[in-house]
Amino acid sequence: MTIYTLAFACSQNGFIARHSGDNPYEWTSKDDQIHLKNLIKDHEWQVMGRITHELNPNETRKRIVFSRSCKEIKLIDKKIKNQYFFNPDLHQWNDFEKLCNQNVLILGGTKVHDFFLYSDLIESMYITVEPLEFSGGIPAFSYINFKDIIPFFREKDFLINEKILNKKGTKLIHFKKI
Ligand SMILES: NC(=O)c1ccc[n+]([C@@H]2O[C@H](COP(=O)([O-])OP(=O)(O)OC[C@H]3O[C@@H](n4cnc5c(N)ncnc54)[C@H](OP(=O)(O)O)[C@@H]3O)[C@@H](O)[C@H]2O)c1
Repeated sequence: MTIYTLAFACSQNGFIARHSGDNPYEWTSKDDQIHLKNLIKDHEWQVMGRITHELNPNETRKRIVFSRSCKEIKLIDKKIKNQYFFNPDLHQWNDFEKLCNQNVLILGGTKVHDFFLYSDLIESMYITVEPLEFSGGIPAFSYINFKDIIPFFREKDFLINEKILNKKGTKLIHFKKI
């Protein structure tokens, strides 16, 4: 069975980016960057939206990239193996799981988070909250205010643990389905 883990970093008011095209590496802590690197090492396959993929090209990673531009499941670039476009509006979920029949890391952005949340596939989630406030930007989820995320997942019987990662106050929150 495929296990889905979602991970993102955000500001204290819940923005995952200051604008589309923003690179979180410009504002995330070293601790979060190490945490993300370890998660990627532990999850051979990652799933993300087209914009996030294009902002972070990496030919060696195994990726499934959501895009409505693709009519069939296909390699994004014929020269790069193990990176596929997938359109959940058209394609079957068991074909997704045939491509990556192991644990999968979900890496944003907003609509990809929404898709996995509402399809009830998330087993585990890591949120890194950096001690920053953005005046606006891209939210973690479309229909849940950031302050309501913990109560929302608690209601769904997730175990929730928090730890502080550094002196600046970066917080890592882990949610695990019981
Ligand atoms: N802080 C963090 O942890 C974190 C994590 C991830 C991303 N980010 C940042 O967030 C920003 C990008 O996020 P974003 O939300 O604007 O874009 P995104 O999710 O990366 O990409 C959006 C695109 O993905 C495709 N897509 C998304 N959901 C889909 C669905 N359900 N079905 C089919 N296609 C779907 C569509 O592609 P088509 O247009 O091709 O149809 C859509 O235009 C960047 O600045 C990135 O660096 C931050």
